[in-house]
Amino acid sequence: FFIRASHRPSLGRLATALPITRPMVRRFVAGETLAEALDACDRLRAASMHTTLDILGESVTSAAAAREAATRYVDTLDALAQRGLDGNVSLKLTQMGLDVDPALCRENVGRVAARAAEVGAFVRVDMEDSPKTEATLALVRELRATTPEVGAVIQSYLRRSADDVERLIAEGTRVRLCKGAYDEPAGVAFPTKGEVDASYRRLMERLLRDGAYPALATHDEALIVEAEAFARRERIEPSRFEFQMLYGIRRDLQARLVREGWNVRVYVPYGREWYPYFMRRLAERPANVLFLLRSVVREGR
Ligand code: FDA
Repeated sequence: FFIRASHRPSLGRLATALPITRPMVRRFVAGETLAEALDACDRLRAASMHTTLDILGESVTSAAAAREAATRYVDTLDALAQRGLDGNVSLKLTQMGLDVDPALCRENVGRVAARAAEVGAFVRVDMEDSPKTEATLALVRELRATTPEVGAVIQSYLRRSADDVERLIAEGTRVRLCKGAYDEPAGVAFPTKGEVDASYRRLMERLLRDGAYPALATHDEALIVEAEAFARRERIEPSRFEFQMLYGIRRDLQARLVREGWNVRVYVPYGREWYPYFMRRLAERPANVLFLLRSVVREGR
């Protein structure tokens, strides 16, 4: 239900206009403005955490909106450099115009990647639903020929991911490993949590052994504990990889990992177009709906 609702722009317009949703959204979104997002990065840095900034927005339908999104990323990279914050951003290709015109998308991402290279920053290309997997990996490969500080995302629920991981390891591409957040048909994705987790475990070990500074993006404590044990057993130094988690989710676990000496990067989304992102977070854990409503009622008293 939440994933389907995330694709309904009319519901999104309604939700973003309602004041009641704002306090709920603030749990997962750092703010609507760049200034708020930079403050969130400052706070996380004070807690010894790294960050990657995401300007919310996806599936743009015009060339002008796609160009504007790229310009906002360039401005964000400049602002991060000026504040001496982590030069690390995450973007989506449909925000850069993939559905409008692939050539325009390439030009937009190329502009962001070029500025990132100038200021010594890193660009992570988020992975969207499976019809875009091939184009996304192809574009990351193409970009890396001129700007190597660009990385990919692999979703463990996809059956193809073991092959993709081997190729990315061979090419020296930095990989973020996540489980996957979209509603995919069983033909392309493993249908059960057990299979998705088993795939995550295999890919995680493969990347920890031979990957270029992989990022393990999950809040699944069992998998995180396994990663820690694997790294210790195989004598993989903490400096060779990082854990990643989403802003506002399992903050206790984020803090524990930092205390124990592991690298942690928090994915910090900001902007007005929070609706699809927020709905995917609810889809991952429907209990969040109750939890969020309760906190709104409490704060409203
Ligand atoms: P799982 O869903 O099994 O959850 C394990 C536990 O984590 C839960 O029991 C709960 O305690 C906690 N948890 C998980 N989600 C929660 C939530 N929303 N609220 C509260 N608690 C929650 N996906 C994608 O398709 N493309 C991408 O590019 C990215 N990028 C990305 C970056 C980063 C840094 C992260 C952490 C995640 C992504 N994802 C993503 C999302 C990812 O695919 C996945 O949907 C979520 O991380 C949830 O899966 P978990 O691995 O956390 O495990």
